[in-house]
Amino acid sequence: MREMANQTTNRAALDALLEKMRRREARIGIVGMGYVGLPLSLLFSEQGFAVTGFDIEASKVAALNHGESYIVRISAESIQQARKSGFRATTDYSEVAKMDAMILCVPTPLNEYHEPDLSYVTGTVEALAPYLQPNQLVVLESTTYPGTTDEEVAPRLEKGNRLGLRVARTWEDSERPSVHLAFSPEREDPGNETVARADIPKVIGGCGPVAQELGTALYGSIFRRVVPVSSPAVAEMTKLLENIYRCVNIALVNELKQLAMRMGIDIHEVIEAAKTKPFGFQAFYPGPGLGGHCIPIDPFYLSWKAKQFDFHTRFIELAGEVNTAMPYFVIDQIAAGLNEHAKPIKGSRILVLGLAYKRDIDDLRESPSLTIIELLRQRGAEVAYNDPYFARVGQGRHYALNMTNTPLENLAQYDAVVIVTDHTSYDYAAIVNQSQLVIDTRNATKGILSEKIVRC
Ligand SMILES: NC(=O)c1ccc[n+]([C@@H]2O[C@H](COP(=O)([O-])OP(=O)(O)OC[C@H]3O[C@@H](n4cnc5c(N)ncnc54)[C@H](O)[C@@H]3O)[C@@H](O)[C@H]2O)c1
Repeated sequence: MREMANQTTNRAALDALLEKMRRREARIGIVGMGYVGLPLSLLFSEQGFAVTGFDIEASKVAALNHGESYIVRISAESIQQARKSGFRATTDYSEVAKMDAMILCVPTPLNEYHEPDLSYVTGTVEALAPYLQPNQLVVLESTTYPGTTDEEVAPRLEKGNRLGLRVARTWEDSERPSVHLAFSPEREDPGNETVARADIPKVIGGCGPVAQELGTALYGSIFRRVVPVSSPAVAEMTKLLENIYRCVNIALVNELKQLAMRMGIDIHEVIEAAKTKPFGFQAFYPGPGLGGHCIPIDPFYLSWKAKQFDFHTRFIELAGEVNTAMPYFVIDQIAAGLNEHAKPIKGSRILVLGLAYKRDIDDLRESPSLTIIELLRQRGAEVAYNDPYFARVGQGRHYALNMTNTPLENLAQYDAVVIVTDHTSYDYAAIVNQSQLVIDTRNATKGILSEKIVRC
């Protein structure tokens, strides 16, 4: 009889929570105030939710609580606006106990052996688990291999919480107070202004039916479309399929570009013509190599996991090989361009234009510009850079540049100007006009006729 009463009470509590989510009255905790978690916090806040941002970096927490931004495309005003609606940040995990839902947006990089480094995810889960409360929803958004939510997150939530709560897998489980767990991939495209974040459909896979119901209610109140899938593993694999598709197609077009150059064909003209086909073709563009926290990294989460199933992911490896070689190809093109002027790389003054891994963003992670600068330096060039998004660049995970931004003036002093990132703020006609030699890895000088340009 008492068990029956508990069941009814818990269903009533879950119904109340669902209602809170639909009415945007639920309290949302978001862990990881980076490129993904901060904009997501602002989106929930704009829609009326009370949001608490969690981060281990005290300086980020302090900046947010002072209404300041540390990401270029996020304005201080938007943070101040969110602050007025109750947004605040903290390093204190005990505040997890006050939340209705926790969303985890922490990094998932590769380690030095090119294997998944889940330490940020597991560290976060272990830090929040002691404070879990009955019926809370936990959603992992970090990109990862299929199985992570079930195999790495669920056991840690169960082991670490002080109330002995289990992750609910069935309707029966959720009749008792439990924790609800789901995976929902972040599909944002930084710098892409053509699709509003709320218009990107939100895929979600719950460990149990109630997690799915809660997650759908939560995301359904801010995203125009929620796409429920049958498990967290399906949701995890969906994100990887999307990024592997991109990685493989970029590799394909990077390889074909090299062939087209040998054949004297302009690959960009080919892509523009192919694009006119109304079905069966999606355009991808060649470039100096892959960058960012996603495309160069995520595919290897799957190839690592595949080994457990005696499976070798050949497309991923091949795409990785082609894309990794692209900065070396750019160096060959710089050498060939200088050669035409009877100059070696050694001793040449070279200006790299654009450091960010793609146009109009302030993200340097895995950017091919870093490899290109290192290779040029190794070959004895005197390298400078210009990028409006980086006043200086010190040391990072895989680089030690220690350089400051060079003003975009007196370009004739450089033996070569290399366009690595095609920021829209650059006046390419003026750049070509003032330079001795321009190596264009992005087709940024399209339509400009000049013998000074090497397009590669
Ligand atoms: N950046 C993107 O464009 C993008 C797009 C789609 C998916 N993703 C995925 O989203 C996830 C997050 O990426 P990001 O670009 O926002 O990373 P980021 O490095 O910009 O931000 C991560 C934040 O998490 C914080 N953090 C790390 N460990 C923590 C802990 N234990 N507790 C609290 N905070 C902690 C860091 O201090 C940092 O502020 C990754 O899995 C990434 O693959 C990123």
